[in-house]
Amino acid sequence: MPLFKVDTPLARHILTQLRDRNTNQVLFRKNLVRLGRLIGYEIANTMEVEEVTVETPLSTLARGVRIVGLERVVIVNVMRAATPLVEGLLKAFPSARQGVVVAKRKEGEFDSPPKEMEVDIHYYKFPDVKEEDNVIIADPMVATGSTILKVLELMRTSKAKKYYVASVLSSRYGVDRITKQYPYVNIFTVEVDPEINSMGYIVPGLGDAGDRAFG
Ligand code: URA
Repeated sequence: MPLFKVDTPLARHILTQLRDRNTNQVLFRKNLVRLGRLIGYEIANTMEVEEVTVETPLSTLARGVRIVGLERVVIVNVMRAATPLVEGLLKAFPSARQGVVVAKRKEGEFDSPPKEMEVDIHYYKFPDVKEEDNVIIADPMVATGSTILKVLELMRTSKAKKYYVASVLSSRYGVDRITKQYPYVNIFTVEVDPEINSMGYIVPGLGDAGDRAFG
């Protein structure tokens, strides 16, 4: 199952502050940056390693490891809510190249929790993705999964080595929907919430991540 929960005590502490309706905009944004860094480190920890030997300043050989592909990362920023998350991911992958997708869900109240949301893509641009690249799609909230599916569809001609989703909160339904269509995508999320409400929001959730981060 390509689902990785980043549920360390520190990540859960930060998520709890994000969920709290009393957390202000500045702390909310800072916490998304902090989680981006933690999620990035978790992704890096699953990447392939090779053994290497280096010479220390004491003219002695020391054995160690090198993460293969750490320098071959493309981060896709699903704007606007992912921007602080991407800032954190860049701490883990400083040499990452970046793509952007400006996406907007068509919001409204439905009779029952929606199974998919209409997503308008206003703009997208990706760097040239090569076979040795690891693509990380950053979107803090994976509700029905419609936005991620749309981004994966936009990237269908790119043949990267691995695909990851970096998210803060996901719904069970959204995770299942993405993995059914794209079983090779690895979803990293701090928590999986049980429900989506009739407006397409994750419950208990943390509200509208973009509004809370940017006002
Ligand atoms: N996007 C958000 O910002 N919040 C949700 O709960 C779902 C999608």
